[in-house]
Amino acid sequence: MESSNNIDIVFIGGGIMASCIVNAVVASGYTSKDNIGINVRTQKSCDAWKQKGFTNTFISKDDLFKKVQPKYVFLCIKPQLYEEVCTELGNSLGKHNGPIKFISIMAGITMEQLRRSFNNTVPDYSITRAMPNLPCQIQRGTTLLCSTLKSDELSVIKEIIECTGTVVEIDEKYFNVGSVLSGSAPAFLFTIIDALADGGCKNGLSKGDSLKLVASAFNGAAEMILQLGEHPMALKDKVCSAGGTTIAGIAELEKHGFRNILIETVTASTQRAKELGAPK
Ligand SMILES: NC(=O)c1ccc[n+]([C@@H]2O[C@H](COP(=O)([O-])OP(=O)(O)OC[C@H]3O[C@@H](n4cnc5c(N)ncnc54)[C@H](OP(=O)(O)O)[C@@H]3O)[C@@H](O)[C@H]2O)c1
Repeated sequence: MESSNNIDIVFIGGGIMASCIVNAVVASGYTSKDNIGINVRTQKSCDAWKQKGFTNTFISKDDLFKKVQPKYVFLCIKPQLYEEVCTELGNSLGKHNGPIKFISIMAGITMEQLRRSFNNTVPDYSITRAMPNLPCQIQRGTTLLCSTLKSDELSVIKEIIECTGTVVEIDEKYFNVGSVLSGSAPAFLFTIIDALADGGCKNGLSKGDSLKLVASAFNGAAEMILQLGEHPMALKDKVCSAGGTTIAGIAELEKHGFRNILIETVTASTQRAKELGAPK
């Protein structure tokens, strides 16, 4: 099984999501700043990374690949740029010897679309698709993964991403709905948390205290499902005493079709992911 510390890792794109992964990988000691190569578009971004000690940051892909081995290459650019960037990578890596493992975090872009865009310009490569979520920023993220590689060949890629949290392998045909449940769900939950805290505020508690209580309740509730493996509805029943306060609130949720709203929320986002990923 392939595994090593201080391996070279390349990031094409150095925006929000690349920063999450880079910061986690360095903070965990998995590899050093010197082993990280970053390719950005503007001088401003390049200077900002260099100021943070990432000296192998370049605007030119050719310059980058002279300094850092392109063995693990994360594609962290916006999805609409994928064809242009694959062409640029093909031009730079066309004569590179040795296998390159591309890891694309671009929403909606399939492994087949990437393969077609490389169009044999890169001699020896594999593609892994990853979908990290925002909590990767605090190393509590979840990243979906699917790959053309076999499980044992994925070990280093998994180790890199595990610096940001949990990795879940999933068949590519479920990637859209999986991405909604891990990538978009934090936004749904932030909205629910804010609304519950507004309820606290309406009933006299400060918004700050309300947010702390609700976020902490979410934390504990989620951990109970993960740690105990109990069904959420069994846990809900444990909180609802007969004729009590909680069941009065649950009845109000049901009256407004809360569960159905959430089911349809996931369906709408999944549909949108399909539309965005459809060939133009
Ligand atoms: N944000 C999320 O919650 C999230 C979650 C999961 C996945 N994703 C995916 O992550 C990807 C990146 O999103 P983001 O939010 O990190 O984007 P972002 O902050 O806009 O960063 C994009 C980066 O790409 C660089 N770039 C643009 N053109 C380039 C080129 N031709 N060659 C090299 N670098 C180039 C930009 O350089 P400059 O800095 O110089 O402009 C910038 O650093 C997207 O595909 C998105 O679907 C995002």
